[in-house]
Amino acid sequence: RVVGSSGTSKENKFEKTYPTVVGYARDAIVDGVLPSQDKIFFGDDAVKFRSYLELKKPLSHGQVSDIAAAKGFFTYIRNQITQDTDNEVCVVLGVPSSTDEKAHDTLKNIATGIFDRMLLIPTPFLAALGFRDESKLNNSDYTDPIKHSLFVDIGAGSTDLCLIKGYYPKQEDQNNLRNAGDQIDSVFADSIQRQYPDTKLSITKVREIKEQCAYVGELQNGVMTKVLVNGKPKNIDVGSLVGNACNQYLSELINTTVQLVTRVHSDSVEQILQNIVICGGGSQISNIAPEVQRLLLEQGYEYPKVTTVGKNYQNLVALGAWKVARSTPSEKWQHL
Ligand SMILES: Nc1ncnc2c1ncn2[C@@H]1O[C@H](COP(=O)(O)OP(=O)(O)OP(=O)(O)O)[C@@H](O)[C@H]1O
Ligand SMILES: [Mg+2]
Repeated sequence: RVVGSSGTSKENKFEKTYPTVVGYARDAIVDGVLPSQDKIFFGDDAVKFRSYLELKKPLSHGQVSDIAAAKGFFTYIRNQITQDTDNEVCVVLGVPSSTDEKAHDTLKNIATGIFDRMLLIPTPFLAALGFRDESKLNNSDYTDPIKHSLFVDIGAGSTDLCLIKGYYPKQEDQNNLRNAGDQIDSVFADSIQRQYPDTKLSITKVREIKEQCAYVGELQNGVMTKVLVNGKPKNIDVGSLVGNACNQYLSELINTTVQLVTRVHSDSVEQILQNIVICGGGSQISNIAPEVQRLLLEQGYEYPKVTTVGKNYQNLVALGAWKVARSTPSEKWQHL
């Protein structure tokens, strides 16, 4: 997701987010079905007209997986910000934790010719900056997320973990799990197919059901959802199926979290364990914070405290990117 902004206003000028997706018109599409003669649609339009398009994600598992789609998406975003070529357009790109030089070079090559300057910043750090409420920094009871925290960003293709210690994170402050929401969808879809072989649900429909009823912890039965089987509505119980898919992912998440916590210096580990914050779409999984907390306790950690960023998770990375852009002096940006 991105935020676009133009002009030189001093305030946080948060304008719009766009889902990172590109849709290519299917062959032999009849005139007038799509809103224009365009063969490629981006962001919300790609989602809206998805039944007539082949959707491609420029990123998968947090890495660029389709260079042409990524280039098209960058160009689209650049044109949303301004069509004017007199001004420089600077871009802050959130990169998953632990991406290597090669991945950075790929992004740089794609952005060259589209944007003028660039910064690459780990996404969980951007989320932490976005979550930070500067107006409360003088309140004694406010915990500044930038000082000592562990941010866990559960996205679609990857989970990014980052220790936040008051400065820009280094490689060793980060850990990454190449699984997240997409993997839950795939495990959930397989189990629905096994238990209810007559249902032929698309992965989009499976994701939609997951987003309505995902949870972790003790399995719940009787979570009913209506699906169409041969065109007829049928109620199926997905309670234990969605719970199992989410719990399976959670055990991988705990392993990745423990690996990172092991690297924390003993002077700050207590404070960091007190401030574990889950963000990204996966933070909306019901009961996730209490369950992560319970599992960390079970692993022997003392007083872990886990929270989520709440309902407003979608804009945090973009808002953090905006704050970085405002505060970075011009000589620190990479020229493209
Ligand atoms: N209510 C919900 N319950 C469970 N999962 C949800 C919910 N809402 C969104 N998600 C999942 O969160 C994921 C998307 O999260 P997010 O928007 O943070 O991803 P992203 O930043 O686009 O992806 P990535 O970080 O992997 O590039 C999807 O798998 C989506 O299904
Ligand atoms: Mg993300």
